[in-house]
Amino acid sequence: MEYLVKSPAKQRPYTEAEIAAVLDVMRSGKGQTQGEYMTRFQDEFRAFTGANHAFAVDNCTNALSLAATLCGVKEGDEVLCPAYTFCASAIPFAKAGAKIVWCDMDPVTWCVDPADIERKITEKTRVIIAVHLLGMPCDMEKIMTIAEKHKLRVVEDCAQALDARINGRHVGTFGDFGCFSFHNAKTFTTLGEGGMLTVKNEKDAAVVPGIRFNGCCSYPARERDWIPAMSNVDMHLDGFWPNNFCLGEAQCAVGLAALSTLKADTDRIIAQNMRLRELLRDVSEISFNTIPEGYRHVCHQYVLHFDGSAFGKTRDDLMELLRNKYRIYSIVQYYPLYRYPLYQKLGQGEFDCPRLEAFWDQSFSVPMWCGMTEEDLVTIANAVRGAVADLKG
Ligand SMILES: Cc1ncc(COP(=O)(O)O)c(C=O)c1O
Repeated sequence: MEYLVKSPAKQRPYTEAEIAAVLDVMRSGKGQTQGEYMTRFQDEFRAFTGANHAFAVDNCTNALSLAATLCGVKEGDEVLCPAYTFCASAIPFAKAGAKIVWCDMDPVTWCVDPADIERKITEKTRVIIAVHLLGMPCDMEKIMTIAEKHKLRVVEDCAQALDARINGRHVGTFGDFGCFSFHNAKTFTTLGEGGMLTVKNEKDAAVVPGIRFNGCCSYPARERDWIPAMSNVDMHLDGFWPNNFCLGEAQCAVGLAALSTLKADTDRIIAQNMRLRELLRDVSEISFNTIPEGYRHVCHQYVLHFDGSAFGKTRDDLMELLRNKYRIYSIVQYYPLYRYPLYQKLGQGEFDCPRLEAFWDQSFSVPMWCGMTEEDLVTIANAVRGAVADLKG
């Protein structure tokens, strides 16, 4: 089927500056990993977000793994995680042996509900994972108050939320760690894969370079430079098994160049989002998440909620019409994680999330990328309006 509005494979084309940056790495004759582009990318990312420390990594899942390691998550611990998120938010914590306690959604922002987080804390709870879902910041003020009261560590999953802010403060700077993704599906991508870990305190930051690269870190000045060996394994690590989570120089060079257009790109996405909402304002059966005052919601996807209960129609009826009659391809994003066989088979299928249960089967998403035209947005809005009208009869 030929769809009328189709998302491109990549959110936006590379700029000439990004392409030149890759060529520079290839032509420079310098080392291809952990070099000056990585340092500059980390420094500028830190400046952009206001984070205390930033470490480039190969993807967000591994940023989350680093955070799980640094939080000391182990067998028998409980980790609070929203059930409404991408599967990677919880995997590194579950893999470390934690029981994932699924938290319900907030009906307004669709992010995790802080009251449900607090309700589910036990003496085994160690970590709160706050996911800034769909580019919408979570209520970090409430989450940090709860965390401080119960002495819990907070990991912010910012995979979908680069440049999202609360009253100007960037997500990923509230909790102990912020985990960012530069995967191909994001407007900001470092050649298809990539990520960043932001860290609040010095103690955690000191061990990240070693864990990120097989225990190797730079030497302090020493008289006999061949001791203990050419590679300084385990200078600072205190009982952590390391790994290799490095991001190569070409990817860091692209990231550094992409930072210069980031704000303009997110402004564009925000404007598109506002326009789609405006175009669908008259369709009362369709609703969006509500953006609280002072929140910069960077809208990673257009997820819509459809309530056809007054005329006995479902989200699936709507999606079918959108595809077959209006030729708009819509999908359903982020199954509640406890419903996935993966989580169920691994003993993580227990849940108590009534709001998400009611919401999820009525949600769907329409195409979205950075640089959509007015025509794209109008075509989508007209299709949704038309399909809802058809269902109403
Ligand atoms: C909420 C969330 N967390 C984590 C990830 C994992 O990111 P990555 O693909 O960079 O490992 C994603 C990926 O899209 C995500 O959406």
